[in-house]
Amino acid sequence: MKRLCFGIMLAVLFLTGCSSLKVLDPKGTVAELQLNLFQISIAIMLFVFFVVFSMFVYFTWKYRETPERRHLTPSYIKGNKKLEVTWTVIPILLLVILAVPTVKGTFSLAESDENNENPLKIVVTGHQYWWEVHYPDQGITLTNEAYIPVDRPVVFKLKSDDVIHSFWMPRLGGKKDLIPGKTNTLTLNASEEGVYKGQCAELCGASHSYMRFQVHAVGKQKFSQWVDQMSQKKEPETLDPTAEKGKKLFISKCLTCHAVSPAERSKGPNLSGFAGKERVGNVLLNTDENVQKWIRDPSSFKPDVNMPPFPDLTEEDLNALSSYLSQLE
Ligand code: CUA
Repeated sequence: MKRLCFGIMLAVLFLTGCSSLKVLDPKGTVAELQLNLFQISIAIMLFVFFVVFSMFVYFTWKYRETPERRHLTPSYIKGNKKLEVTWTVIPILLLVILAVPTVKGTFSLAESDENNENPLKIVVTGHQYWWEVHYPDQGITLTNEAYIPVDRPVVFKLKSDDVIHSFWMPRLGGKKDLIPGKTNTLTLNASEEGVYKGQCAELCGASHSYMRFQVHAVGKQKFSQWVDQMSQKKEPETLDPTAEKGKKLFISKCLTCHAVSPAERSKGPNLSGFAGKERVGNVLLNTDENVQKWIRDPSSFKPDVNMPPFPDLTEEDLNALSSYLSQLE
């Protein structure tokens, strides 16, 4: 038993460092406010813990059983106003110290949803098991990633297409559910350029853990360049014969669910920029071989995924498809 406990403690100690989400390293005003609140409550908790435990240890030692005291019956004391007032007032004070910044912070976060000038609006729709990221004003749609400008409030409108998901980017703060039939709003901002990782934080099915996403925070100028670049993005014009064949197959088999231009929205993940994605379906590394394995039977890599298997495609077909997909810059 002792060994098991020790093992668990060791695992907790080492595995807490494994997360790439960097929960305690905020890079935005919302996340900083939340971390401050968190630190205040931890400080109060440590204070209470220290005082109570010190007294507990002290009194246990002081009034321990000794040979002289073995048969001693302590005298009965009834009530002590001073003590009772003390241990009522101290917790009230502590709660007030905790409540004032918490209530203030909560209200200021709720207000920030509406009081922003020139916010960037992004509609995020959760699907089993991927994220559609849509910029309604720019007409851009992405999958599992978002680009945002630094120092500008971003209003995420959160929706779900199937079950409840939860949108969570710890370094930018906040975590909010995506609920079918309802639109939730989450306002965040990034104070520093960088790539921030996110993760679905609500168990939504067998492949919940694959619902990861990335937010690229870039300078304001870079952001408008990116918007221009995305709006002018066209499909590759010259394709080699294999890729050309793949394109035809793609049009007949895949286009009903997948768009290949950021200007279009589709039922399944938008595949524009597929060549630059690190992973296929957020699971397998993006190599030709893996793309082919994925198309043949996606659910063997991502359980419960909505994409059907394509057992009828020949090696040659799969080769053509992966060749076409690798040209989608
Ligand atoms: Cu979506 Cu978990």
